[in-house]
Amino acid sequence: MMPAGQLPFSIPEAIVGRLSAARHLTALTGAGISAESGVPTFRQAQDGLWSRYDPTELASPQAFERNPTLVWQWYAWRRGIVDRAAPNAGHLALVALEQFFPNLVLITQNVDSLHQRAGSRAVIELHGSLYRTRCSREGKIISGYSESATPPICPECGAFLRPDVVWFGEPLPAEAFERAAQASENSDVFLSIGTSSLVFPAASLPLIARQNGALLVEINPEPTPLSDQADYALVGPAGLVLPALLDALRAARQTPRS
Ligand code: APR
Repeated sequence: MMPAGQLPFSIPEAIVGRLSAARHLTALTGAGISAESGVPTFRQAQDGLWSRYDPTELASPQAFERNPTLVWQWYAWRRGIVDRAAPNAGHLALVALEQFFPNLVLITQNVDSLHQRAGSRAVIELHGSLYRTRCSREGKIISGYSESATPPICPECGAFLRPDVVWFGEPLPAEAFERAAQASENSDVFLSIGTSSLVFPAASLPLIARQNGALLVEINPEPTPLSDQADYALVGPAGLVLPALLDALRAARQTPRS
């Protein structure tokens, strides 16, 4: 048996070598990086109250049209979980990697702000944020609304308010995606962390990086459709693999190459 909290493998030398020589590191994260903080992923069964619902169906404009109260409550429940959660070792390792890569570009599909709370500097949010609310009619970001109705009502036009997140079938914020694609194209090493790689266009970013010569490394305890296309699939939880990657890089930087 392996001791708890220890990876059953070491980080391959070839990854450490490429990382040591890299100038541009780009990371894409998904719900899996927050799993060890206790935030449920999208494609894992939900607990208790919400076990009857499929999150991938609640996250849609159709669901909001059908039952705005249900969708608002689901997001309020998720926000409650995230409020009580703390960044984990995976989030913190990504912050520490900025010491080696001051231009590290961190692209996330998550709406939980845990990267920002951990201290990551420049986070590109592809799917919006649980912590912003907008008018479902006019799209304007609204703060300071009354919570007496569920969903709350836009104080300016009377339409329902909705979370400022990207739902299935909706376009991503164009400027954020453009920056993410650019960073992917320019990267020397690209880390795809804790994402099922099923949702496009986010799932195209590692492929853009790979096509442009980046070393593509996946970090996930489960195989995904990306695994076969990655140069390396590091099988394990982000909270263990990322600190191990950081330690290996630190050790390599301290040991001058002969
Ligand atoms: N460390 C790393 N990865 C993990 C961990 C962990 N500790 N635990 C689970 N995972 C992996 C799972 O194996 C899975 O591949 O995280 C992934 C989570 O997948 P999804 O739930 O599909 O989340 P994500 O890829 O972020 O979903 C993309 O879908 O519903 C939409 O908009 C939503 O942004 C979301 C998008």
